[in-house]
Amino acid sequence: MDGNLLLAQLKALIDGIPHPVANLANASALLYEHLDRLNWAGFYFLKGEKLVLGPFQGKTACIEIPMGRGVCGTAAKEDRTLVVPDVHCFRGHIACDSASRSEIVVPLHKDGRVVGVLDIDSPVPDRFSEADRRVIEDFAAILEQACIVY
Ligand code: SME
Repeated sequence: MDGNLLLAQLKALIDGIPHPVANLANASALLYEHLDRLNWAGFYFLKGEKLVLGPFQGKTACIEIPMGRGVCGTAAKEDRTLVVPDVHCFRGHIACDSASRSEIVVPLHKDGRVVGVLDIDSPVPDRFSEADRRVIEDFAAILEQACIVY
């Protein structure tokens, strides 16, 4: 993966576009196209105590995830990136697609508080390297700085 190219493409894609849903939809499409061996890439946003499905690419997915549940809810509650090399070994993993084998979830912030997560799934075990994690965290930071998380 060329991380610098991916980040540059994201910046170019959202620059000057004042439509959060459109930007997040394009951001998920960019990830899905640019990263190989994925089966899902998208967003969940906090509404009350639940994460609610946002723009994504991939198969239809769970609509609501309680805070603290699954990989997404745990990453949001603990406010930290979770890289799960084998989802079968993650207690409480929510299998929206039984093909998923590994996953990375990065919390998204607004005004210093967690407001959602970026979730990326792969059908391949141990798909996400430390280098992938850094690029995906930078990808999330660009979205935060552009104020398009909600
Ligand atoms: N696997 C996630 C649920 C979301 S789907 O993968 C799109 C989880 O355990 O939180």
